[in-house]
Amino acid sequence: MTSFMGMLITIDGPAGSGKSTVSRKLSEKLGIPFLDTGALYRALAFFLHRKNVPSMEGPVLDAELAAVTVKLKTSAVLVNGEDVTQFIRSPRVDAVVSAYAALPSLRRKLLDLQRDQAGELGLIADGRDMGTVVFPWATLKIFLTASQEERALRRWKELRERGESCTLEEVLEEVRRRDRIDSEREVAPLRAAPDAVILDTDGLSIEEVVQRLLDMIAARRNT
Ligand code: DC
Repeated sequence: MTSFMGMLITIDGPAGSGKSTVSRKLSEKLGIPFLDTGALYRALAFFLHRKNVPSMEGPVLDAELAAVTVKLKTSAVLVNGEDVTQFIRSPRVDAVVSAYAALPSLRRKLLDLQRDQAGELGLIADGRDMGTVVFPWATLKIFLTASQEERALRRWKELRERGESCTLEEVLEEVRRRDRIDSEREVAPLRAAPDAVILDTDGLSIEEVVQRLLDMIAARRNT
């Protein structure tokens, strides 16, 4: 049992700000479960795109969303019982996910599933609207940022390590495009909650970011 048990910590920020890596490390250190909400949006986007369901509101999308089931298992996302985890981090899904994530009905579909993950152990929830929409009552809200250039560089290195061929300029353009869609959409746009702590990670290593957050979490627990 840990003394951090029951804490609800939200970590929001743009693509490439290091949210998932940092959240995973915090989860291990604190013994609090981790929820990667991007994986849920990616799983639904993958499923709908594969079925040629256009990313627009309307009866076709309504019918699909009414019929589909999304479930979380330890580090896996199941859509209609199919484990789609291995497909959701591809450039193909990168290219379409923001458009699906901007749809209000799709966001509504995932709301309860996300909230249901916050149990007695607490939760570290990583996404875009964790502190503003999904868990406005969180114990601690963090908003991680980094410049577009730094985020593109991180993503480019990650893609190269996976053997994908692309230029840094292409990745930077994709980062700009996704930032635009995620920030300008009408429902739950990417935005720091008024009571979030904003941390700019430019020039900081993952370990440094994790240490700063651990200090904040310890301070919050003692208040
Ligand atoms: O964090 P990520 O790159 O895996 O997120 C994938 C997409 O899903 C991204 O376009 C933003 C969107 N998203 C969202 O709108 N709300 C969330 N809570 C998490 C992700």
